[in-house]
Amino acid sequence: MRIVLGVSGGIAAYKACLLLRRLSEQGHEVTVIPTEAALRFVGEPTWAALSGRPVQHDVWTSVHEVPHVRLGQSADLVIVAPATADLIAKAAHGLADDLLTNTLLTTQAPVVIAPAMHTEMWQHAATQANVATLRDRGLHVMDPASGRLTGSDTGPGRLAEPEDIEAFALAAVQESLGAGGASASSALDLAGTRVLVSAGGTREPLDPVRYLGNRSSGKQGHALAEDASRRGAQVTLVTTTDRPAPTGADVVGVETALEMRDAVLSRAADHDIVVMVAAVADFRPKARVDSKIKKTIGQDDAPTIELVRNPDILAELVQQRGEARFPILVGFAAETGDRDGGVLDHARAKLIRKGCDLLVANEVGDGVTFGQDTSTVHLLRLAHPDEVQTIGPADKDVVARAVWDVAVEMHSWS
Ligand code: C5P
Repeated sequence: MRIVLGVSGGIAAYKACLLLRRLSEQGHEVTVIPTEAALRFVGEPTWAALSGRPVQHDVWTSVHEVPHVRLGQSADLVIVAPATADLIAKAAHGLADDLLTNTLLTTQAPVVIAPAMHTEMWQHAATQANVATLRDRGLHVMDPASGRLTGSDTGPGRLAEPEDIEAFALAAVQESLGAGGASASSALDLAGTRVLVSAGGTREPLDPVRYLGNRSSGKQGHALAEDASRRGAQVTLVTTTDRPAPTGADVVGVETALEMRDAVLSRAADHDIVVMVAAVADFRPKARVDSKIKKTIGQDDAPTIELVRNPDILAELVQQRGEARFPILVGFAAETGDRDGGVLDHARAKLIRKGCDLLVANEVGDGVTFGQDTSTVHLLRLAHPDEVQTIGPADKDVVARAVWDVAVEMHSWS
């Protein structure tokens, strides 16, 4: 997940270092936004070293990247820990006089506020009214812990322990995912995982206006990307379509098989799981003509198009990883039965030939699968090629969930 960790100025800022460390170790991409006051307690180098990323703390740095909007927009979760009475008051009133308060106004992600202050400040009617306002607006405000405060006094106002803030934050994300329809059992089981999904059908140009294409719509690939993101993965989506992509995904637009090959092969090693859903053209025209191929008026002529083989990206991925068994590779295959065997026979042979870890065999035919919202698939694993799990006919979202369920299990064993 992309997490923004906002830190406001309290002595408990040191505890946010422990929270940051936990989140980073789990593979989350955490950007820290300390307020100027927070930087008096814990310095920028500590935040940068623990997050492994530059620290963002003012709206005037890298203005061309519009940080006051971008950080909030691209976050999957925003946590403010510790949140002082002043920060809570600003958030409740929509003030935006620094990068953190700007981010709170621009994000659509779940926001978790972990207060820390003296008991009197926490119990003050103004703070309680501000907390109620934030909770009414759907922000997740934790209750502070009770115990020893900065001085010798004790009472409610201590920052909650880092593990409790983390658990509370993940529950908040799950709650927001639940609203989006994810099943409770699968929620966030891809957190900290990087996945690459290829989607759509490649187009192989003949001339500036014509191409050889296929009927793949990209629906299944985008559904896989969407579900992976919902489950907490950092998603790279290499796609030939302009369908909507999950928020926060790194989207790489491509058109041809060769472009897809470059995009996938150069990125695969940085990912834990690669799912090749794209319908990659097996052949491309040997030459792309620079101007439109014209017919000769009055003649019955027609050009002959010479084709050449495209590289098999999935096979190259299998080769590239060698014995490493990393990343986990998932292939898709559109299959029909014929005289030589049924869909499953062909799929099993392809699984073994390709050497990917999981093959999702689609039953295709006239008007079945391509461009439709539903499909029937058989999941076959290289480790147990005789076992088959059949899904469908089912919505492509359901197929996506089933594929990730298996891939997550494989990842947990790898
Ligand atoms: O051999 P077939 O095209 O049926 O294999 C389908 C699987 O191989 C899909 O996962 C597809 O994305 C991948 N593929 C590929 N490069 C190709 C052709 C297919 O990666 N040139």
